Amino acid sequence: MRSHYCGGINESHIDQDVTLCGWVHRRRDHGGVIFLDLRDRDGISQVVFDPDTPESFALAEKVRSEFVIQVTGRVRRRPAGTENDNMPTGQVEVLGRELAILNAAATPPFPLDEHVDVGEDVRLRYRYVDLRRPEMLNRLRLRSKVTSYIRNFLDRHEFMDVETPILTRATPEGARDYLVPSRTHNGSFFALPQSPQLFKQLLMVSGMDRYYQIAKCFRDEDLRADRQPEFTQIDIEASFVNEEDLMGITESMIRELFKDVLKVDLPVFPRMPYEEAMRRYGSDKPDLRIPLELIDVADLVAGVDFKVFAGPAKDPKGRVAALRVPKGSELTRKQIDEYTKFVGIYGAKGLAYIKVNDLSKGAEGLQSPIVKFLGDEVAMAVIERSAAQDGDIVFFGADRRHVVDEALGALRIKVGHDLNMLTSEWAPLWVVDFPMFEETSDGQLTPIHHPFTAPSCTPEELTQAPATALSRAYDMVLNGTELGGGSIRIHDETMQETVFGVLGIEHDESRSKFGFLLDALKYGCPPHGGLAFGLDRLIMLMTGASSIRDVIAFPKTQSATCLMTQAPGVVEDQQLKELNIRLRKPVVKASEAETDDSVKEG
Ligand code: AMO
Ligand code: AMP
Repeated sequence: MRSHYCGGINESHIDQDVTLCGWVHRRRDHGGVIFLDLRDRDGISQVVFDPDTPESFALAEKVRSEFVIQVTGRVRRRPAGTENDNMPTGQVEVLGRELAILNAAATPPFPLDEHVDVGEDVRLRYRYVDLRRPEMLNRLRLRSKVTSYIRNFLDRHEFMDVETPILTRATPEGARDYLVPSRTHNGSFFALPQSPQLFKQLLMVSGMDRYYQIAKCFRDEDLRADRQPEFTQIDIEASFVNEEDLMGITESMIRELFKDVLKVDLPVFPRMPYEEAMRRYGSDKPDLRIPLELIDVADLVAGVDFKVFAGPAKDPKGRVAALRVPKGSELTRKQIDEYTKFVGIYGAKGLAYIKVNDLSKGAEGLQSPIVKFLGDEVAMAVIERSAAQDGDIVFFGADRRHVVDEALGALRIKVGHDLNMLTSEWAPLWVVDFPMFEETSDGQLTPIHHPFTAPSCTPEELTQAPATALSRAYDMVLNGTELGGGSIRIHDETMQETVFGVLGIEHDESRSKFGFLLDALKYGCPPHGGLAFGLDRLIMLMTGASSIRDVIAFPKTQSATCLMTQAPGVVEDQQLKELNIRLRKPVVKASEAETDDSVKEG
C-alpha cells in the first residue's frame, strides 16, 4: 500500500512520486493550502494539498487528528525559510495528489503531543493510543534492539534457547505464586513460574551445557516502580563453570550491549562484598554514582545518657551510623524536616543531625539538637570520625540495623540527587559474598537468593553456623538498581538436603515439593550456575524511564490490574463449576464496588 515510511523521505527523493500511509498527526489550514503532518512508526512527513487537486483538497479538509490515510504525491524541496532542521524530513514535503481516508478516528482521549502531561491511568486505559507517541515507540524499539542483540550474543557463545513451562509447580523465589486451577484434576492447581530456575537446572542435568531464554516470570508481590507482577528475565545457565566464568561472560554481554546500542563505554565492574555494601551504603544494591557513605559510630555513643543512641549502640542487632553531607549546613529547617519525614517511611523514628559551622571553636561551633545529649567530647569524636568540615551537615540513624540501613541508605540517594552530587552517569558493580540466609522477623532463616544456591562451605560447616555462612551468589547492580542475580548451584544431593534442613523443610516436604530435583541430582548432575537479568529494568535504565511500566507495552497498575482489558475479571458460574470452585463470598460487581485502580507512584 505504500512506497516509503513517512520518516524515510529526504532530499534524495525530490521529484519522485511516493505513496505514504499513516495517521494524521496534525492538520493546519493556511487559507487555501492544507498541511497534514503524516505520522507512522518511522517519523513524520509534511504533506501539502492545494486546490489544484480539488477532490483530494476537499477530503483533506475533512480529515481530523488520528485519521488513517493514504497519500500519493511528489516530493519537493520546502520553500526557502520553511525548512525544519529538527526533523529528518524537514528539508522536503510531499505535494499531495491523491488522498484516501482508510479509516476515520474519534477524537483521541488525549493529544499525542509529547509535552502533554496526561494521567498514567488514562494512558494505560488507551494504551494503543499511548504507544503511538514517539517516546513510547522508541522505548519499545530499543527493547527490541536489546533482545535481538542479546540473542545474537548468546547464540554466538553457544547458548541454546530452550522454552520451559508456564503451567508448572511452585518455583520458590520468595514471592507469592499466581495459581491456575486445573479442570482435569479437581482441587489441584498449577503455579505460574516465578522464574525458570528449576527447569534450567534440570536442563544442565540433561547435558544442555549452555541455556538461555527470554522468559516471562510471574510474582504476586507488592509492586513498585521497578516491579511488575509479570515481567521478563534474560535467563542464563551453564555447566562446568565457576563464578568467574559466569560473571565474566555476563559482564561482557552487558558491556558490549551498552557499547553497541547506546555507544556507552561502561567502566570495569568493581566487586564488593555484601558486608561492605551494607556497611558503607546501607544497601545490597548501592548507587555508586553518589559519593556519600554511612559511618559507624556505635562505639563512640554507647556510653552516653541519650537512650536514642545508646540503646541501639549496645544492642547487637542495632546500628548507629552517621551520614556526612558536604556543604549540607545550608539545608533549611524545613528541608531537614522533610528528610525526617522521608526516613520515617523506612521506620526511622527521627533524624538527628549536627551542622558543622566552625570547627575551630570546637563543640561551640556545632549546631544541633543532640550535642547537649551527647556531651561535647562525644560530639567532637563523632564529627572527627565522619571527617566533616566547616559547612557540612552530619545526619544520624539509630535503630535496629535494618531500619538504619534502609533509612540512611535511602536518604543518601535522595540527598545525593537533591544536591546534584552524581559523580558519573553509569556506575555498575558486582555485589558478591552474600550470606546464605537472613533472619525473618520471627527468627526463622530464609534464603537470601533461593534454596538452590551453593554455600561457600561444606554441609557440616553449614549445619554448624548457618547464620554466618556465605553463598556463591552474585548480583549485578547498575545505578542503584539490581539488574540481575545468580549463583553457582548446589549439584550434590546431600548439600541440597542440608540446605532444606536448615530452612526447616522436613524430608517429606522437600520430597513432595522438590522430589524431582533431588532425584535429578542423583542421575549425574554437573557443577553448574547461572544468572537472570531483569529485562524490563535493563531497558528502564537504558532509556532513562522512571518506571518499568514505561518500557512494557501492556503493563499492570500498582494494584496488579490491566486498565485496558479490565483484567483480572469475574468469570461465568459455569466456568467455576467446571473447575469445582465455589467462591466464599459473593462477588461485588465492579460497577457497585469502589474501584481504586489509580497508578500510585512507587
Ligand atoms: P531474582 O529473583 O533475583 O533471581 O530475579 C532476577 C532479576 O529479575 C528482576 N526481577 C524483576 N523485575 C521486574 N519485576 C519483578 N517483580 C522482578 N523480580 C525480579 C530483577 C532481578 O535481578 N532464578 C533466579 C536467577 C538465578 O539464580 O539464575 C532469579 O529469578 O532485575
Ligand atoms: P528526641 O529526644 O526524640 O527529641 O530526639 C532528639 C533528636 O534525635 C531529634 O533530632 C530526632 O529527630 C532525633 N532522633 C530521634 N530518634 C532517632 C533515631 N532513632 N535515629 C536518629 N535520630 C533520632
